[in-house]
Order: sequence, then C-alpha cells, then structure tokens
Amino acid sequence: MSMNSSPWWKEATIYQIYPRSFFDTNGDGEGDLPGVTSKLEYVKSLGVDAIWLSPFYTSPNIDGGYDVADPRDVDPRFGNLADAKQMIDVAHSLDLRILVDVVPNHFSDQHVWFQEALKAGRGSSARSRFHFYDANPDGTPPNNWISLFGGPSWMQVEDGQFYLHLFDSSQPDLNWDNEEVATDYEKTLRFWLDLGVDGFRIDVAHGLVKEDVLKDHPNPQGLSDALRLDMSMDSEKRYELLSSVPYFDRQGVHEIYRKWRKIFDSYGDRDVMAVAEAWVHPPVNATRYVRPDELHQVFNFDLLDAPFNAEHLYDVVSRSIELMKSVDALPTWALSNHDSPRVASRLGDLQSRALALFVIALPGSAYIFAGQELGLPDGVISDEFRQDPIYFRTNGLQKGRDGARVPLPWDGDTAPFGFTSGKPWLPMHDSWKELTIDKQSVDPKSSLNLYRNALNLRAEHLVNNGEIKWLNSPHHGIKNPSLLAFSRGDMSVYMNLGETAIEVEVTGKVLIVTAGIPDSRDGKLTIPPVSTMWIHH
Ligand code: NOJ
Ligand code: CA
Repeated sequence: MSMNSSPWWKEATIYQIYPRSFFDTNGDGEGDLPGVTSKLEYVKSLGVDAIWLSPFYTSPNIDGGYDVADPRDVDPRFGNLADAKQMIDVAHSLDLRILVDVVPNHFSDQHVWFQEALKAGRGSSARSRFHFYDANPDGTPPNNWISLFGGPSWMQVEDGQFYLHLFDSSQPDLNWDNEEVATDYEKTLRFWLDLGVDGFRIDVAHGLVKEDVLKDHPNPQGLSDALRLDMSMDSEKRYELLSSVPYFDRQGVHEIYRKWRKIFDSYGDRDVMAVAEAWVHPPVNATRYVRPDELHQVFNFDLLDAPFNAEHLYDVVSRSIELMKSVDALPTWALSNHDSPRVASRLGDLQSRALALFVIALPGSAYIFAGQELGLPDGVISDEFRQDPIYFRTNGLQKGRDGARVPLPWDGDTAPFGFTSGKPWLPMHDSWKELTIDKQSVDPKSSLNLYRNALNLRAEHLVNNGEIKWLNSPHHGIKNPSLLAFSRGDMSVYMNLGETAIEVEVTGKVLIVTAGIPDSRDGKLTIPPVSTMWIHH
C-alpha cells in the first residue's frame, strides 16, 4: 500500500471520551453532548485524529450507559439526537472523526424487547430474543456460570424462568441465534452511520455467541478469577482456564462481523472503521477479528496492567506487533480506559509519561483515555459515593471502576474545576488544583504539553514510517537491562526504565524527552532516569 492511500485509521490516535465525565453544560453535575461539542477545539488541540465516545444512548445508567434501553436514541441526561448530529458535524468541521460505542452483547432490562419478554411468558418469540430457560428440577439456575460483575449470571423472573446476564442483572444478554436480533442491530449500525459517524467501538465483541448454555462449567470460580485483571494467578493456570470459555470467542462471532463489514464497506469512501473489544486467549485469536473481511482493529489490553519493566514491555510490544503482522494488520495500544486504574496511579507520574512517549512512537493506533494527557490519577472516592455495579455485586469486595471515571478538571483552583456549575456526579477534590487543563496549557513542562508535542511530532515523523527495529532490548544487543530502544524510519526512541542515567552512543537531534535534560557530547547522549527520548537522525 502506498503511503498516501493508507486509510485514516491505520495509524490513528484516538481520544476516548467518557461523556458523563467530560464537560457539563446544564449544571446537573453530569457531562453531556453539548459539553463535548463545546470542547472539541480542546480535543483538536491535542493533535488526535478521532474520538471514541462511550455510550450516550437511552439508559437507566446502571452500568454507565452500557445498559442500553434504546440503541438509536440519546438519553436526555446527555441531550438529544440533534445534539449528537451537531457534535458530529462540528467534529468533522475540525477534521476529527467520531466513533460511537455499540453494545450488541446485551440490552438494558428497560429495553422494550425485554419488557415485552417479561409479559409474553415462557416459550414466546419475545423471550427467544434473550436467553430464557427453565430452572433445573431442584430450582437452581440453568447452569453455574458466574457474572463478570460477580454473583450468578442468571436472574429469575416471576414465572420461574431464568435469563442469562454475563454482566449486571439489569443487562440481559441478547440471543444472537435469533435473526431479529441480528437485523435490529444492523439497523442500529446504519442509523449511526447515516447520522454521520465514522465507525464503532464494539463492546464485548467476543461475547455475542454462547455455546453449551445448559452445561455447568467445571470451574466457574476459577474462570471468573482468571477473567479479572486485578487478580494475580499463575499464568499457566490462567491460560488453561481462558483457553476455552463457553461464552467468549466462539467461532460464530466472526460470521456476525463478516456481515457487519459488508455494511461498513457499503459506505464506500467514508472509510468506516470498527474496533473490537475482545479479550481472547490465546492472544493469537485476536488476529481473527481483523481478518480482511472482518473488523479493522482489535484492542490490545496487554499494557493496561503491564509493570514498568523492560523485559515485560519488550515481550508485550514485540509479540503484539508480530501477531498482527501475521494478518497484515497493525496493533493498537492503550494505557488507560474507563474500566481500569489510570496509568499515572498504577505506575507513577514519570513512568507513565515515559511509557506514553514510548507507545505513541510505535506502529499502529494509540488510544488515549480523556484525562490521561493530564497525568490524572484515579479519583479518591469513599465507598458511599460509589456507583459501579461491580462494587455492589461483589458486596464491596471489589471497589469497581469509578476511580477512573471522575470528571475532568478544566480550570480554577477548587473542585469541581469548571466541570460543572452544580455538584459533580462523582466527588472531585481540591488536590487536583495543579492538574487543570487551564494550568497545564501554559506550563511547557506539563503532561498536557508533552502529549501535544508528542502527537504532533508523531504525525510529522512517525506515522506511516514503517516497522521498528530493536536497538536495545533484553534480546537484542543488550547493553543495559533498563533500556529499551528502537529505530523507526529516521527516528529512534530510547526509554530508560532505571533510576540511573544511561549513556548511549548516538548522534542526532533530540526532539522530545519526558524528564530531565538530555546531555549530548562527542557522539554520546545521556538518557535521564525514568524517561523516554525521541531522536531525529
Ligand atoms: C465493557 C465496557 O467497557 C464496560 O464498561 C462494561 O461494563 C462492560 N463491557 C459491559 O457492557
Ligand atoms: Ca449535564
């Protein structure tokens, strides 16, 4: 493929907005679509190519909008369809693409279909759109699967039948063997494409097809633990448990995406793209989602919980690149999202800056979670304010994901920092005073300006600049075990993960560094401790 004909998404930077936490325009304490629209200039100033918006559809909002009651309308808390159209149009006028999040694995129990199913009773066609089954003779649920949010994955209704819910009990799983489900979803895709969006993030893309629904799993608790990122487990054990999950990564999901791809392609030069949220094992299975007649990208979650360790990061990065190469695709990279602890809290400020600069230089697409560019830590939330269903379904054992979802600090010296004129939906604290967008904008050393500079330099020097060549890694010409370095085109990238400066023999111009002052003399360059540096040759 020639450089110019590369589609926009091949090596894009995509900014994830959690609309509820972005910017509030009507003082109800929750972000909204007019809020997104009013801040698109800010998004543009970062140098990103596209925005992915977490759900803003009609929803009782038990699971932050991933419980969709009408996938073709906007929830009043976020505005209305005209606001969505306005947001898309303004984004396009700024040359920003828009991806919306679709949630095809389940609906909310408030969706008309589910309400109909409850009324229609057992054996009805309304129930066959979901997974309704009778109880076992002893009254127990049809099988022993555990919900990903904790507790059983079955909920009993009044007449004694159970329905399947892999997530919260308010999120009944759809039955994708039912043609009506498939047809309705195609309608949803076209609806948003016709409104002007440029593509989709597909929630739980690996989950749509279930097998053996009436069979018990031999180790449901083990499987449930293995599925949790925050649970440490012997990796072979985890591997074994995850190698075949009756409700994940079944072959049937690929038929669905082949059909969807035809829809996307029917929009021709709109260059519609879709990215799959697919947690699959072994990792090679992820490549199936991006075969040429399926989706365009698949999320790579390996960096979300990766330690700041050279050997580990080398393995993850090189493996991700090799895997995707086998299907002629490029990897995706993400350090944070709305489901995991923020990278600055997990690794520390310097470390997360260094890792971000490293990742932004890699081939493929980089996803940046709103607030990550500010180096935001997780918000401190006392239990009484928690909202995540994970917290409630595990009886507080797991704290849930609210920490990553605290609204953005825009300006001023005290919380809620201009996010809202009312009371923010999650508590914000004055301790974020130095982190506001306003303050960081004028500080050349801020995390925000680091991201801005890096994204601009990436567009200029790295995008479409081919593969990387390792210069120093645990497996290539090891000079220092704390150093990871690669070259790409006429650039080279050095990440020092250690606490002491490292001297390397290299000439060129330092374009950007995350910490310290690079010292360059007689063809030797000093890489400060815990920093990443880009060099132009
Ligand atoms: C993945 C989403 O990212 C998460 O926020 C949500 O709770 C589950 N899917 C269920 O839709
Ligand atoms: Ca609002």
